[in-house]
Amino acid sequence: MKNNIGLKNNVLKLKAPAKINLHLEILGDRNDGFHELAMMMQSIDLYDILSFEEFSENNIVFNSDSKMITNTDDNLIIKAAKLLKKYCNVLDKGIKIDLKKCIPIGAGLAGGSADAAATLIGCNKVWELGLSIKELEILSAQLGSDIPFCLKGGRQLCFGRGEILEQLETYNKNLAIILVKDRNLSISTPWAYKEYKKKYRLNYLTNEVEFEYRRFNLRNFDFNKIINKDGYSIRNDLQCIVTKEYKQIETTIKFLRNLPNSIDSSMSGSGPSCFALFEDINYAKETYNNNLKEFDDLNLDAWCCSLLNNGVKSL
Ligand code: C5P
Repeated sequence: MKNNIGLKNNVLKLKAPAKINLHLEILGDRNDGFHELAMMMQSIDLYDILSFEEFSENNIVFNSDSKMITNTDDNLIIKAAKLLKKYCNVLDKGIKIDLKKCIPIGAGLAGGSADAAATLIGCNKVWELGLSIKELEILSAQLGSDIPFCLKGGRQLCFGRGEILEQLETYNKNLAIILVKDRNLSISTPWAYKEYKKKYRLNYLTNEVEFEYRRFNLRNFDFNKIINKDGYSIRNDLQCIVTKEYKQIETTIKFLRNLPNSIDSSMSGSGPSCFALFEDINYAKETYNNNLKEFDDLNLDAWCCSLLNNGVKSL
């Protein structure tokens, strides 16, 4: 794997950035029970920090500063380390993983997927397995639809379940967001997709030609049309389902859209996190600082983030 990731004093520290969806379009059903998607995902400057250190016994020892993340086999970090051990047949290997959690959990920001992506990269390096990012992308799709994206991150088009990736070179590096999340809300992704299906199943596209036409449209969509407010808006098909059930998210999206200098606003993934897009980080910072009381009154945690051109990276 060619990158600048290196160990210091036998410890590897990685940043695992969150993502937002700049486009989430549901095309139809897949044979594996998932949905066929056309998405544009974007890494943002809000990240968890993971440390990796080889362990003499063949155990995976996991610690976190978050009480909400359990030390059990359904933890995506532990699943990722175990999968890699099995795939590379290095069952004698052990690792200590320490997680500093900053990305809110259950927020539609792929925090768990980012941690799993960092674990694959971290264990690959510490155990000197030599797998390429492409191999890790393929392997990681077994664990979750957003993990392949989180490895390389930046801005990518994501098709299929989300695991078929096309890197985009242009990512409007000056753009920034104000990201917010209702403090008391967490939304189940399977629930959101199930409700969407109940409502829109009859409108689903049914064949590959139609899917490919939508992919073609997204590949050729000029994101500047949103930035220049040419009558285009960020699309997230799950937003109508989630806002119908949780009215506070609709209020939040309107509030974000009306902030000074906000270009557009949208929900990320299946929510509940939402964001407002700004042309420039200075506009975003100023608006963020001027609205601290409003965020609090709406029961929102809030962050001001720039957009990143990378995924998992050395700290
Ligand atoms: O793959 P991941 O674990 O992130 O997916 C969570 C859930 O979201 C799935 O169990 C499924 O209900 C829904 N989903 C879907 N189609 C996708 C991705 C996710 O229906 N392409």
